[in-house]
Amino acid sequence: MSRLAPEFEKRATDLMALYPQRRSALLPLLHLLQEQDGHLTEDGMEHLAELVDLMPAEVLSVASFYDMYHVEPVGRYVIGICTNIACLLDGAEELLHHAEQRLGVKHGATTPDGLFTLEEVECVAHCNFAPCAQVNYRYFGPLTDEGFDQLVDDLAGDRLKDQVPPHGTLVRVRRDGGLRVSPERIAEERRIVAGQIADRAAGEAAAKKAAEEADAKKEADEEAGKAGQAKVEEAAAKAEQSTKEAGPQVKDEKADQQPKAEALGQAQEGQDAEGGAKAATPGGSADVEEKKDS
Ligand code: FES
Repeated sequence: MSRLAPEFEKRATDLMALYPQRRSALLPLLHLLQEQDGHLTEDGMEHLAELVDLMPAEVLSVASFYDMYHVEPVGRYVIGICTNIACLLDGAEELLHHAEQRLGVKHGATTPDGLFTLEEVECVAHCNFAPCAQVNYRYFGPLTDEGFDQLVDDLAGDRLKDQVPPHGTLVRVRRDGGLRVSPERIAEERRIVAGQIADRAAGEAAAKKAAEEADAKKEADEEAGKAGQAKVEEAAAKAEQSTKEAGPQVKDEKADQQPKAEALGQAQEGQDAEGGAKAATPGGSADVEEKKDS
């Protein structure tokens, strides 16, 4: 068997109808597939992927995450012996060793007749009946070596078929409470959920747009600030250049003015001396002229 048989596909359709999105039904659908074949076949998982609109690899990634799903063939009965602390203290290691000898396989393997798969498992919450075992997720314990042998004999002899269904069957009396909800009620709930999803998407889009606008404004402000700073620096550079060019001229003017001042000073001194001589010698001017003649 590979893909879901028609009666299983009908159950799959009913399961998916319980969820707003088909993919939400993936876990119960995997159990459904496992109930059909005893384990999860590749073709079966591809069929589930088609039904819930996922990639086959996504279905496999979910299936391989959980211990209760088996992607390899297993026996009709999967026996899990707990070796966690409470069971360990009550002889679980010895019980597991005995089980391996009784079935002729190591834990993790399946008997050649395909009847039993033996597993070592973590605590299965049946500690007060330690050491305990599960067979297709039905509890047995506390178990002695003899009790384990009896359990195996009863399973092989079909004497526990009412208590333990083949591997993959979780329940044989299915509840249909969820399926009693009217299609109109389900459609209404889906409409509400779709509205909520749309509102949330619109809110997220508006928030994203506002954030983008704020970023753009901030960027524009930063660019404007940089441009203003560049203008200030340019003006400062021009002013400095002007100052440099004007500096020597001022200096030259000062340099030109100094000899003139000195010349004026000397000329003034000469006039003062001549005036002084005239004042000290009466008729001095005539004397000087006389000396020039002589
Ligand atoms: S430790 Fe074994 S069932 Fe809890």
